[in-house]
Amino acid sequence: EKGGFDTYMLKEIYEQPQALTNTLIGRLHDDTGEVNLDIGLDPQSFKRISIIACGTAYYAGLVGEYLIEQLARIPVEVDVASEYRYRNPIVSEQTLAVVVSQSGETIDTLEALREAKKGGAKTLGVINAKGSSMTRELDDTLYIHAGPEIGVASTKAYTSMVSAFVMLALWLGRARGTLDETQARDLLHAARELPRLVEEALAPERVEQIKRVAEKYAHARDYLFLGRGVNAPTAFEGALKLKEISYIHAEGYAAGEMKHGPIALIDANLPVVVVATESRLLEKTISNVQEVRARSGQVIALLSDGDTENARHADDVLYVPRAHEMVSPVVNAVALQLLAYFTATALGKDVDKPRNLAKSVTVE
Ligand code: F6R
Repeated sequence: EKGGFDTYMLKEIYEQPQALTNTLIGRLHDDTGEVNLDIGLDPQSFKRISIIACGTAYYAGLVGEYLIEQLARIPVEVDVASEYRYRNPIVSEQTLAVVVSQSGETIDTLEALREAKKGGAKTLGVINAKGSSMTRELDDTLYIHAGPEIGVASTKAYTSMVSAFVMLALWLGRARGTLDETQARDLLHAARELPRLVEEALAPERVEQIKRVAEKYAHARDYLFLGRGVNAPTAFEGALKLKEISYIHAEGYAAGEMKHGPIALIDANLPVVVVATESRLLEKTISNVQEVRARSGQVIALLSDGDTENARHADDVLYVPRAHEMVSPVVNAVALQLLAYFTATALGKDVDKPRNLAKSVTVE
């Protein structure tokens, strides 16, 4: 049932090109720059968006916030569901609440959805499990079609959720006139490349390199993950993945925040993973890398293919295929899933059943 893989998690990591194809298929039209999501929602009918989710799905929501604000210029807030449901949120008929969930059963997210509905919000779900509890209460569901995810640590659902947000942001941007046809086509093309780019990210020599790096640092006590902009959530997700399956303490930070506290942690025993793929802000990220280096931290840099220039600032480099910045979180996440995976297996952990965790959290 694991299709020749040792674990469900690894199988699901390798299923990502197919999962992404299924998420994107039939929804993007290159020729016209149009996106067809088959949802009844009127894209002009709200003034703000609240994205609500837990865990990995919350990080997908943070990428969603960035994409929607950039591409559709609608104000977005993102909440963890357990906070949202109890904080007396400000909701109106002009709010679109977007809940994000693999299982569609997470109790905090379900209750947060009910809270948003009580306030009059329109509701949309970014959901994997067909016919799950949330889908029965949502106005509209954008299924991610990632297929069943059995490994407790979410992998293909995450990248599919992020891809769903790329499409949603594009759809909103087109409908609301913030994206012209050329920009839309460009992004649409970038999105359609994702299955191929992820396939490339899973090429044997890249996976071998990630495994080597994972084994080199597997005995670290702590890990820091840094990223900026649309890839700040990639750093958060990388840290979550590592801690949940390897039990190594890891923190994810926006790179620019490092100076405001976590820099105090840096010494020769601290591996720091920096997401430094091609971006408008790459130079700033590289200066954060130099700050880590200056304090003897061990830098593991995620760089775009061909970036030998910045490789000299790193102790170890993980190259990833070049992608349009707006879709790069999908490609980058794959490398960090593998880093977590090989760290955990080097330490002999059961990655499919990490201690204290359940696949679907239906109790508060
Ligand atoms: C982490 C992980 C969890 C889930 C979270 C939400 O790898 O899997 O953090 O993302 O429990 O679950 P869903 O998406 O089912 O609502």
